[in-house]
Amino acid sequence: MVACTCLVVNRADHRHFTMAWGCATRMAVIRQSRPEAIVPPFRIELRSDTQTTPTEEMREAMARAVVGDDLGGEDPTVRELEGLAAEILGKEAALFVTSGTMGNLVSLLTLSRRGDTLLVDPESHVTLAEAGGFAALAGCSVIPIQTPGWLTPEDVEPHLGPLTTHSLNPAVIWTENTHNRRGGVAWGPAVMQELSSLAMQHGLRLHIDGARIFNAAAALDVPVSALADGADTVQFCLSKGLGAPFGSMVVGSGDLVERARRTRQLVGGGMRQAGVMAAAGLIALREGPGRLADDHRRAKQLGDVIDDLPGLRLISPVYTNLIFVTWNPDVLNLEVFVEEAAKRGVGVGGARGDMFRLVTHHQVSDADIDEATDVLAAAADAATAVSARA
Ligand SMILES: Cc1ncc(COP(=O)(O)O)c(C=O)c1O
Repeated sequence: MVACTCLVVNRADHRHFTMAWGCATRMAVIRQSRPEAIVPPFRIELRSDTQTTPTEEMREAMARAVVGDDLGGEDPTVRELEGLAAEILGKEAALFVTSGTMGNLVSLLTLSRRGDTLLVDPESHVTLAEAGGFAALAGCSVIPIQTPGWLTPEDVEPHLGPLTTHSLNPAVIWTENTHNRRGGVAWGPAVMQELSSLAMQHGLRLHIDGARIFNAAAALDVPVSALADGADTVQFCLSKGLGAPFGSMVVGSGDLVERARRTRQLVGGGMRQAGVMAAAGLIALREGPGRLADDHRRAKQLGDVIDDLPGLRLISPVYTNLIFVTWNPDVLNLEVFVEEAAKRGVGVGGARGDMFRLVTHHQVSDADIDEATDVLAAAADAATAVSARA
């Protein structure tokens, strides 16, 4: 506990501050030792779309959900959610899983064998932020292919030579739509179709990490099924932009989803009365997608403001709901910027390398954007003044 205390109290780095989030004892330490105003929850939460809380309607639906033992296929609410997810994505079947990470892992375990290789952008969530499950649990290696956000057949094809005694065995083309670390960029149906044809031609599988695939569909103004078409498996999150407190779906053919169901059990992801969570997921799936265009409009508005603040610059255009920003440390002290925003009730993501992130979601309104604009301008003033004195 002493070590925890030091970690949280001594390091002003916002990243360490967020890393401590989720541990009740550490939070108690934070509450005692930092000004109350900078402790989450923030009045306006821009750190991530994972920070949404269930709406009243979701809470009510969860309270009165009809449930059963899902492991035996007896939870009617889960079955309804799985049916709806499959229908919307244009696939035969769907599986409810606990998280995007589990959805990706279950998909990978279903599509590959130990020793297989993924063709993937190294800036993908699966390679950077899923605790190395692709290697540790699925036994896969990766061929990293740097992209501006989307793979093309031209990127992939050179890695698909004939299998020799020595070669790797590329088995899965792994895509991420929207692509988080590439600015939240959305891939269109045409490139997905091309990749699908290439995969089929070479006997590979195509997976979409569609944690935010509904954001992609909204940004491109296409049905989400057009993006999923051609993929063997798609994982998408009910949490994040769609606003549920829990869960993801894996969709695909009936056969693949049946295998994924066994794989979910293998990794301990089978659930019992999960209808309580599926009830919120149903609302997210029915009502979430229609709100995303507004989230994108608000992100763009905020991005334009940030790009004009001293010492701050957008790294990429705002494509969807993610805003990636870099800063000039000679002009602006980022730590002070984040703390000053937090003091005024606005949560801003801390540094990840040379960038930080702001994210809009359904609990950020137009009025919140107006208020956040003023707060971020004031925070930038304070952070540039500190930098000028240093
Ligand atoms: C692109 C992407 N894929 C997968 C995930 C994992 O989702 P979860 O946090 O539900 O495990 C995330 C989470 O932020 C993500 O951004």
